[in-house]
Amino acid sequence: MNILILGSGGREHALAWAVMQNPKCDKLIVAPGNAGIAQIADCASLDILSGAAVVNFCEENAIDFVIVGPEAPLAEGVADRLRDAGVLVFGPSAAAAKLEASKSFTKEICDAANAPTAGYGHFTDAEAAKAHIRANGAPIVVKADGLAAGKGVIVAMDEQTALDAIDDMFGGEFGDAGAEVVIEEFMEGEEASYFILVDGEDCLAIGTAQDHKRVGEGDTGLNTGGMGAYSPAPVLSDAIAEKAMNEIIKPTMKVMADRGMPYQGVLYAGLMIKDRQPRLVEYNVRFGDPECQVLMLRLGAQALDLMQACAEGRLAEAQVNWADDHAMTVVLAAKGYPGAYEKGSVINGLDALPETSSEMCFHAGTGSKDGQIIATGGRVLNVTARGASLKEAQEGAYAMVDQIDWPEGFCRRDIGWRAL
Ligand code: AMP
Ligand code: GLY
Repeated sequence: MNILILGSGGREHALAWAVMQNPKCDKLIVAPGNAGIAQIADCASLDILSGAAVVNFCEENAIDFVIVGPEAPLAEGVADRLRDAGVLVFGPSAAAAKLEASKSFTKEICDAANAPTAGYGHFTDAEAAKAHIRANGAPIVVKADGLAAGKGVIVAMDEQTALDAIDDMFGGEFGDAGAEVVIEEFMEGEEASYFILVDGEDCLAIGTAQDHKRVGEGDTGLNTGGMGAYSPAPVLSDAIAEKAMNEIIKPTMKVMADRGMPYQGVLYAGLMIKDRQPRLVEYNVRFGDPECQVLMLRLGAQALDLMQACAEGRLAEAQVNWADDHAMTVVLAAKGYPGAYEKGSVINGLDALPETSSEMCFHAGTGSKDGQIIATGGRVLNVTARGASLKEAQEGAYAMVDQIDWPEGFCRRDIGWRAL
């Protein structure tokens, strides 16, 4: 099978690594890829937001299966164009990808499915939004409706912060994404992520994870795309996960199918858990990054079989072979991230790192120059290890971190503290 993966981050390196473990894969191309991916697969430059360009590429390279990593090509309808052209693809239609692209859309689907989530109001007018905030008081959560690269959510602990957020969003700080806002009830509890494959009809859980969003130790400081993650998430016990599946995932997926927008691909549910009751915080229509890295290390080669079964509508007959293991990934970022940081510094020590079914250093933002690996992004490496316990996985990951020689980088030393 000839496979094309779209994307260029640590998530795509982990997907590529898992796909390469599977003997079914004859050829793997990743577009655009990165320096780490280039060590295990072919990388190609391609406009991954253009459905026509991706379809052409598939025809020219005899691609049998496309795995879409990030949300942007999905929102652009790249999966639709591939399906129209008869190419097997893992990833939802643009219509179904609205579950991530529009917060108000998701809230309305939850209403229709009677799925537990935060109460909300949806506003296109700043004054009405402010009146809602004044009527409900703080804490309260203000969200730009559209895709805002993870920056469109303000959890306001006081009323003024929420009112200011309305001014910012209607003032255009978030572009078109801010012309509509969703204002939500603040939910207390512990957050965890639940990953489910959906083939339009059937759902198959493929793992749980928790990430650390804040840049600083003890979960302090600015928000980031994620400084580390681990799987499984202890807070999402089998019983609570089953509740989430039956009360949230399956009912919302049924509403999507009933409305002619069957969901196909991986569904990433952000859940808030309190008193053993899960509530939906948000849906994403892709794997989490860096959550994907820990899931792929745990699933290994079967990830390809599962994604293929999902794309072919055969999930009813698929099953996950679980090992009783744990995985952790530690993100190495460029100093300054998530603020301004330098690009181009050289990273040494990577060649000596182990590459086994339990230890992998996935590249997120790297390039190569004069035979050396250089940092090209904010989040740069995802050092990932697996073990019989979370503690063992943590020790494995930090042992690898300590072998990496990159003075311009940093990481949190406490990934997993909540669970441990
Ligand atoms: P989202 O992009 O919707 O996941 O929001 C980003 C983060 O904001 C979430 O991971 C939560 O930590 C927080 N958040 C979002 N909505 C709520 C809510 N209704 N109550 C409490 N925290 C929230
Ligand atoms: N790690 C959070 C995300 O991928 O959205």
